[in-house]
Amino acid sequence: MGKGREFRISSFAFRVYDGRVDKLLEVRGLTVELATAAGWVRPVNGVSLGIGAGEALGLVGESGSGKTMLALALMGLLPEGARVGGEARLDGQFSGKNLAGLGERDWRAVRGREIAMVFQEPMTSLNPVMRVGAQIAEAIRAHEPELPTAEVQRRVLAALERAAVPEPRDRAAQFPHQLSGGLRQRAMIAMALAGGPRLLIADEPTTALDVTVQKQILDLLDTLRRELRLGLLFITHDLGVVAQVAGRVAVMYAGRIVEEGPAHEVLARPRHPYTAGLLAASPRLRRSKLAPIPGTVPQLTALPPGCAFEPRCAQRRPECAAALPELRAVSADHAARCVLV
Ligand SMILES: Nc1ncnc2c1ncn2[C@@H]1O[C@H](COP(=O)(O)OP(=O)(O)OP(=O)(O)O)[C@@H](O)[C@H]1O
Ligand code: SF4
Ligand SMILES: [Mg+2]
Repeated sequence: MGKGREFRISSFAFRVYDGRVDKLLEVRGLTVELATAAGWVRPVNGVSLGIGAGEALGLVGESGSGKTMLALALMGLLPEGARVGGEARLDGQFSGKNLAGLGERDWRAVRGREIAMVFQEPMTSLNPVMRVGAQIAEAIRAHEPELPTAEVQRRVLAALERAAVPEPRDRAAQFPHQLSGGLRQRAMIAMALAGGPRLLIADEPTTALDVTVQKQILDLLDTLRRELRLGLLFITHDLGVVAQVAGRVAVMYAGRIVEEGPAHEVLARPRHPYTAGLLAASPRLRRSKLAPIPGTVPQLTALPPGCAFEPRCAQRRPECAAALPELRAVSADHAARCVLV
């Protein structure tokens, strides 16, 4: 199955984004292939999406649906040997260049400066034996090696303040283990902001935090989006969290976008049975009894020939297994990949 076909079946997404020149990021038919013992698999399969400046897109899906792999493709951080197809374009300095075809040299000009990422567990991305301030300084120097020390220090404090870290001077002098989980995540966000990126990818940034701290981090990301006109790709497996930060939501299943639309609409009236299943399984959004989705995400080495959700879908019908359903328009800015639409 070539990427040409993906372009055709994703025509809805293209129509929506093609006319807009203000999109910070436009992704079209992006595919990531990885070699496994059982052959090549596609954790990201013909994904199309767009994010404007100051816009937050929530990317939702169960574990293994390909969310992180998509983010790593946008950061040029895929595992060695990965094959990338399709397109990802940034406006501005890199407009016209396809990120999917960049070499490492160009990636260094994009990563951190145009697109930055914060990860789920800050402890794995922070250096445990280096003071927080020194790590942020290192991130700043990586982009601007010529900056005088005093200016680097000023920017370190400014980044910590941006991330609403209280007493930034004291915190900068501490080691990561001396900070609470929430402060560590703020330090990560400060580091991500140090290079002045226009797009921030947050991959499950609050999963390891308790609910109160989680809310504070979500509020911080929302403030940064508004005040810095930052594009935000917010990744989570929890639809309840998406409602708090994202204006739009894209639902991913087995490497493909199965539903995309305004967050309030998708949450109130999901059109793909998988999205409806996620809603019914979300403790935050469900007042009555929780109903987990039966079954598990299919193995990428053994994807069903038709709708990938078919083996788990209570509404399946014979045609669902015959061919991959197209992404069908529900309204002008809402689409779902289901024969019921
Ligand atoms: N190095 C690798 N080689 C082959 N397959 C991989 C590799 N890394 C991940 N995968 C597979 O790619 C798929 C997508 O993984 P990914 O980490 O993107 O999922 P995710 O949506 O981020 O899940 P989670 O919510 O658990 O973080 C999974 O099926 C995973 O097993
Ligand atoms: S295409 Fe068929 S199997 Fe797939 S989600 Fe829709 S109804 Fe269910
Ligand atoms: Mg992940």
